[in-house]
Amino acid sequence: MSASVSVSVPAKINLQLAIGPLRSDGYHDLATVFHAIDLTDTVVATTADTLRISVRGEGAKFVPTDASNLASKAAQALADLHGIEPRVHLDIEKRIPVAGGMAGGSADAAGALIACDALWDLKTPKAELLSIAASLGSDVPFALSGGTSIGLGRGELLTPVLTTGQFHWVIALSDGGLSTPKVYAECDRLRALISPMDYTPRISEGLVAALRAGDAELLAPQLHNDLQDAAISLKPSLARVLETGMELGALAGIVSGSGPTCVFLVASREKALALAASISGAGVCRTVRTAHGPIAGAHQN
Ligand code: C5P
Repeated sequence: MSASVSVSVPAKINLQLAIGPLRSDGYHDLATVFHAIDLTDTVVATTADTLRISVRGEGAKFVPTDASNLASKAAQALADLHGIEPRVHLDIEKRIPVAGGMAGGSADAAGALIACDALWDLKTPKAELLSIAASLGSDVPFALSGGTSIGLGRGELLTPVLTTGQFHWVIALSDGGLSTPKVYAECDRLRALISPMDYTPRISEGLVAALRAGDAELLAPQLHNDLQDAAISLKPSLARVLETGMELGALAGIVSGSGPTCVFLVASREKALALAASISGAGVCRTVRTAHGPIAGAHQN
C-alpha cells in the first residue's frame, strides 16, 4: 500500500449536446459526444485519520471542502462499497474552471475514485467504479473513461467513438459560473415559448464521420450544443465571446456544456496559440487557455 497517490483527470467538452424533454426524475435524456482535453485537475490522496479535502488553484475558493464536495462523496461511496473507513486526505489542484461547463467537479470525483482505489489497494473492478461514478453525477463516468465517447441516457451510458489524430482548442473562461440545473431549466423555458417540436436526441452521423477522419474542417460545422441559447440567455456576454473567436479566425465556437466557458476549434497547435493571444487581447473573457484532445481519463501519475 502506498502512502500517497497522485491522479490526473481531464476536463470534458461536448462536441454535440442534444437534449431531450424533461424526464419525470428531473433529468433530460441526452445524446452527446464527450471529448476529454488536456486541461486537467490533479487529485493527491494521502493516508489520514479521517476523510478530509483541501482545494488549491483555479477557482478554489468557490469549491466546498466539506462532505458536499463530489470528491468527498466519491471517497465515501468507495469506502462504503468495501465496508472500510475512508481514511484519506484528498488534495485537489484545480485547473478546470469551477461551474464552467467542463465537468470539473465530476473530474475531481473520478480522480478521487482512482486515487483512493490505489491508496487503499482495493482493485475495484472497472464496472463497479463506473457504477459508483454514475451514482455521483451524469458526467463522472466519462471523467473515468476519457477519450471521445457517445453519452446516452443522462450522459452516463458511454460508447467510445473512433477518432484519429488530435483536435486543437482554445478555451475562453468567463467570470462567474453558471448553475447546470438553471441552464437546463432555461432551455426548457425557451422551448416552451415556441411551437412544440420533436426533441428526441440523436447523435449526428456527420460528427462521427469527421472524428473518424480526424479532420477539423469537417468537424467544425458539426459542433452543436442545445444548451447554448439557454446559457446565452442567462449570460448574454457569451454571444460577444463567440462572435469574437469567430471573427479572429476560429473554425467553430460553442458554449461548453452548460457554460459559461466557450471553446473554439482550430486546425493546429500554432493556430491555437495565435487565436488564444488574439482573444486575450480583445478583452472579452477572463482567461484564455489552449488544449488538445482526446486524452485519457482519470489515471495515476
Ligand atoms: O448529474 P448531475 O448531478 O451532474 O446533474 C446536475 C443537474 O443537471 C441535474 O440535477 C439536472 O438538473 C441537470 N441535468 C439534466 N439532465 C442531464 C444531466 C443533468 O437535467 N442529463
